[in-house]
Amino acid sequence: MRSNEAARSKPACVVVDAPEALARYASDWTNEYAGQPSMVALPATVPEVVELVQWARREHVGLVPSGGRTGLSGGAVASNGEAVVSFERMRRLIAFDATERSLRVEAGAVTQAVQERARAEGLFYPVDFASRGSSQIGGNIATNAGGIKVLRYGLTRNWVTALKVVTGTGELLDLNKGLIKNATGYDLRHLFIGSEGTLGLVVEATLQLTDPPPPQQVMVLGLPSLAAIMEVFARLRGKLTLSAFEFFTEQALTRVIHAGGRRPFDTHAPYYVLAEFDEDEAMAGQVFEACHGEGLVEDGAISQSGAQAMELWRLREGITESLSRYRPYKNDIAVRVAQVPAFLERIDALFEREYPGFEVIWFGHIGDGNLHISVLPPHGMPEDIFLEACGHVTDQLGRVLAEFGGSISAEHGVGLLKKPYLHYSRNVGEIELMRQLKRVFDPTGILNPGKIFDP
Ligand code: MLT
Ligand code: ZN
Repeated sequence: MRSNEAARSKPACVVVDAPEALARYASDWTNEYAGQPSMVALPATVPEVVELVQWARREHVGLVPSGGRTGLSGGAVASNGEAVVSFERMRRLIAFDATERSLRVEAGAVTQAVQERARAEGLFYPVDFASRGSSQIGGNIATNAGGIKVLRYGLTRNWVTALKVVTGTGELLDLNKGLIKNATGYDLRHLFIGSEGTLGLVVEATLQLTDPPPPQQVMVLGLPSLAAIMEVFARLRGKLTLSAFEFFTEQALTRVIHAGGRRPFDTHAPYYVLAEFDEDEAMAGQVFEACHGEGLVEDGAISQSGAQAMELWRLREGITESLSRYRPYKNDIAVRVAQVPAFLERIDALFEREYPGFEVIWFGHIGDGNLHISVLPPHGMPEDIFLEACGHVTDQLGRVLAEFGGSISAEHGVGLLKKPYLHYSRNVGEIELMRQLKRVFDPTGILNPGKIFDP
């Protein structure tokens, strides 16, 4: 219990606690949790973050780190009166190093700003997703963000060469220091990447940049069946250098069209894939013709300019936004790529049986085994009944995932939303080891309490 004296104390950094300010930091893009932060702390420097953690430890106040609030699992929601820690005053792109081709940034740097700075230096930062304009590097690191180019470039983890974090004891760790080679024991950097702010607060990172890819072309194809998707993937991958391979259904496309998108071609197919690849129109045309001849593809469109490529991408990237007003229930799951066809068959049957009258919208990064499934409530169904039904189906989905050795959260993180299903992907022993690790870095449990697992 805090004394009145202690309750009045505040950290040294800027703090806001006006109700309208708190409301802005109460929820994320999950839209499912109404957080109740007690305050929002806005540190501007690393020493201020250290002091903030020391204060929180003294005062027994939980700290919930917040990036661009674009999360989809409630990971940045302060559901128990914790203080939200916003990094919006720590957005600096600190230093570009031309020899190493790296960029040192503060945690609050916006992903798109990093991409643009890389471009200005004639280089490329390849982690990319639809929320690039709002999401922050600290949040990307905390969730090991994936997105649309994982197929070619991998996850955020692959691009972090140095990481500064403040642990739950207020200790500042300077991890890996930008080294490419470093065989000196445990690489703690990777423990913090994807830990959802439960082990430490990311304050600074050095990101590896790379050569820009050659000019890209985008093709959208209409497919007659789920089974054709991975076959078309294999054909395209065999002949082209793919940067992305995404899929979505006619239902998803219809929503994007209603929101202002334009159909890529007149044919209405039940499934669509979007492939981005190093420009090679002749080869893409050949693969298209072969697939079309075998009945694997019904129709297609290929970009002839950067503007057309962006327009085709909007059909895929616009899905989340076009669905948000329906408050969908989201699954974000993954299996090994080789198992995608068998897995799709199983869950197609499961959803068909368990979601009568619900609209189930499939899309995602199928080239890396990651599917997004957004379920919309039947008209007039009360939210609690809807969420209960979805929870019940997700439980069954979890069992199927466990059978396939799959993941209940491919890229959105566990946060609050996936916590009840974590045991389908991680066994009891693993979860206990995670708890023990948390105690090492955050012995008093002040960092993002209750996220991923309970203490
Ligand atoms: C996407 O790939 O569009 C995102 O992960 C968002 C989502 O699942 O809604
Ligand atoms: Zn995604």
